[in-house]
Amino acid sequence: MVKTRQELIEKYTEFFKTKKHAIIGSASLIPENDPSVLFTTAGMHPLVPYLMGQKHPLGKRLADVQKCIRTSDIDEVGDASHHTFFEMLGNWSLGDYFKKEAIEWSFEFLTKEINIPIERLGISVFAGDNDAPRDDEAARIWASLGIPKERIAYLPKNNNWWGPAGETGPCGPDTEMFYYIGKLPMQKNSNPGNDEKNWCEIWNDVFMQYNKTNQGKYEELNNKNVDTGMGVERTLAVINGLSDNYQTTIFKPIIRKIESISGKKYEKNNDTARSMRIIADHIRAATFILGDEKHVPPSNIDQGYVIRRLIRKSIRHGKLLGIDNDFTSEIASTVIEEYKDDYNELGHNKAFIINELNKEEERFRSTLTHGLKEFKKITGSTQQIINAKDAFMLYQSFGFPLEMTTELAKEKGLEVDEEGFKKEYGLHQGISRIGAEKKFKGGLGEVSEVTTRIHTATHILNQALRDVINPKIQQKGSNITPERLRFDFNYDAKLTESQVKDIENEVNRVISLRLPVERKEMSLEDAKNLGAQAMFKDKYADKVSVYIIGDYSKEVCAGPHVSNTSEIGRFKIIKEESIAAGIRRIKAIISN
Ligand code: ALA
Repeated sequence: MVKTRQELIEKYTEFFKTKKHAIIGSASLIPENDPSVLFTTAGMHPLVPYLMGQKHPLGKRLADVQKCIRTSDIDEVGDASHHTFFEMLGNWSLGDYFKKEAIEWSFEFLTKEINIPIERLGISVFAGDNDAPRDDEAARIWASLGIPKERIAYLPKNNNWWGPAGETGPCGPDTEMFYYIGKLPMQKNSNPGNDEKNWCEIWNDVFMQYNKTNQGKYEELNNKNVDTGMGVERTLAVINGLSDNYQTTIFKPIIRKIESISGKKYEKNNDTARSMRIIADHIRAATFILGDEKHVPPSNIDQGYVIRRLIRKSIRHGKLLGIDNDFTSEIASTVIEEYKDDYNELGHNKAFIINELNKEEERFRSTLTHGLKEFKKITGSTQQIINAKDAFMLYQSFGFPLEMTTELAKEKGLEVDEEGFKKEYGLHQGISRIGAEKKFKGGLGEVSEVTTRIHTATHILNQALRDVINPKIQQKGSNITPERLRFDFNYDAKLTESQVKDIENEVNRVISLRLPVERKEMSLEDAKNLGAQAMFKDKYADKVSVYIIGDYSKEVCAGPHVSNTSEIGRFKIIKEESIAAGIRRIKAIISN
């Protein structure tokens, strides 16, 4: 019987090794060079270039466990099954096997490796629409494996279509596997389509053969790919007969820690359990984001604001449990202990994680009590709606994220003028940071011609900074949209105007040399020996792609890139600024 996450992960990866898959490492939680989302939301996310047709150095069959964050369900956290952070098991075919093998292996893994009785398995397949036909083939394969026809539901796009993860990119119809969590014997003809509450989805096989374009069209990809995803937390819960993910061995030590700090007991489905789940989930997520090699601290923008919201909400729920002292770093220590063997970065970055949690907790604890008093005053005179000005005042003076005010209000049967808040916020900030995770609309598969040109320009900039300014300069981060590139690097002083001009001139000089851009595959060791640039602290696969621009630059990268620098156009720096002690940021654009 599989009882721990480690056992489940090992079973999965060993199984797919026997099916000739290369096991790849989990990528960063913060996507490099992907402006469409703040976090890695699925195992396929770091693999988008390969799903779009680029060759992967480790071949056509891959499998892994990927750390993921999804913030879309953040308000649901507190029940028995929602999480912001989770681990996703996945296997991929990059233009290799397709429906038959994918489904047969899913079936074999579920029934033979983790011993799910076939009587408890239900399936859904795509019902078909104008974009793609009904998936009779998938249904036939399931039936041939012994799944009774009445337990195969045909469902529309809402249910049985996955992706793109952003606005554009790879996507396709899927077939989903469900575990029957209801009482046996099950009602005749019960299936995941007509008896939803009794079926829990555990795995999704996506037949990713389309690319959704900017115009909303579904174009056939050259490759017929398979992308699968199985949630570790959920699967472990159902195979252990648990209806509450927070009672699995994954969460036990964390919940136990919260119990010991609060002196309260975790019992099913009351307010105490809800607060404990929120703390367990949110501090686990915050620990992973802070522990990522990108070193993002809590702030008011982007990923930093997500961390801030997670921590602040945990502190308030700690208060509800009667915890009035700093506690989040203690929970984080338990999380780090549990995961550090699989995610070494948590161990390496422990001091940063603990320090940032303590600082944020200190900052917020001093305003929380006053803010709650202020909230009480406001609600004393409000019948139904907390107006935008008050919500904004709670945000600005007491650091209450909007969703905290909304949650507090909900507990009193009140609403918050959220739209008004956003307007108010916009007035004060010039730009709305609310819902920052939805800010970039470009889309995950945004590998348009212009972003390709910007990617290559970024490599030249990276080298030019070393040549023109200081040989010790290293890339610390990068983010590309169709409009601009953003490049972070270590350097202690503000660049002078003439330095900025020199860099610009150097990049344009290299562009005008019409240098070829070549891709070579090699081991990370060989890439290092070759002198290729890489963020060597990041995890890379055993084999990596190195992009070589003439004799000017060599860099480990997943691409995409132009084939000759003459395709790039003119390069111009539009901003140079400091983003942290010793870290500068350049924003630049290209034009034709
Ligand atoms: N990408 C698919 C999912 O996240 C497998 O469900």
